[in-house]
Amino acid sequence: MSFDESRRNLLRNSVTLGATLAVGIPLLGENSSSPANEKKSESGPAEKEPEVTATEDLMREHGVIRRALLVYYEVIPKLRQNPTSVDPAALQQTARLFRTFGEDYHERMLEEQHIFPMIRKQGSDLKKYADILTEQHNRGREITDYVLAVTRGGKISSAHAEPLAKVFETFVLMYQNHAAREDTIVFPAWKKNFTDKQLDEISDQFEDIEHKMFGEDGFEDAEKKISSIEAELGFADLSQFTPPAPPKA
Ligand SMILES: [Fe+2]
Ligand SMILES: [Fe+2]
Repeated sequence: MSFDESRRNLLRNSVTLGATLAVGIPLLGENSSSPANEKKSESGPAEKEPEVTATEDLMREHGVIRRALLVYYEVIPKLRQNPTSVDPAALQQTARLFRTFGEDYHERMLEEQHIFPMIRKQGSDLKKYADILTEQHNRGREITDYVLAVTRGGKISSAHAEPLAKVFETFVLMYQNHAAREDTIVFPAWKKNFTDKQLDEISDQFEDIEHKMFGEDGFEDAEKKISSIEAELGFADLSQFTPPAPPKA
């Protein structure tokens, strides 16, 4: 079986990966290598793409999700002061990105299929985390439905402005806690189940899922989308977020 066929088979089986990994991931042959390494041997180290580990992949996805949350956070005072100044199209685009990249891919395809089934077997505390995190994914999906519904028209009605501001406030707080616990508790616990070689292979599988859902540049495209939303809303310049010096103590 060629390397590509092996990878395709692994991808086909990825839905059951959680269960399979409990007894040991089916390893690729000794000659297997990641695409990055293939590139290195063909073209030399200069063209080698940096390897992205499975947990780094999940955490940089959190980076895109956090930037979408910051867009929501930034419009809260505008919704309260002057809702007609808020561009609903930019919020609609943010909610769509949250849906496709955050909910349908990161949450459903990676966390709910690969991460949570495994950590549920690692003790009652982690099982409880998996339950709460899943509940929060579901609540997030209801919230995204709501955001998509109220930002569909040409402007945000004054009747929706305060409820939407409140929804953003609570959602941002929930998801900041959610992603921070995943980064510091859940992903490190999950990672302990595997050898470095197994993690390399899982990282390739995650990449295959990403390519299958979004084409070659899933993460890069999502990053570009959030960058352009930030630019539209005037949040592109990072320096605007540097606070003034604190008062003298
Ligand atoms: Fe999550
Ligand atoms: Fe996550």
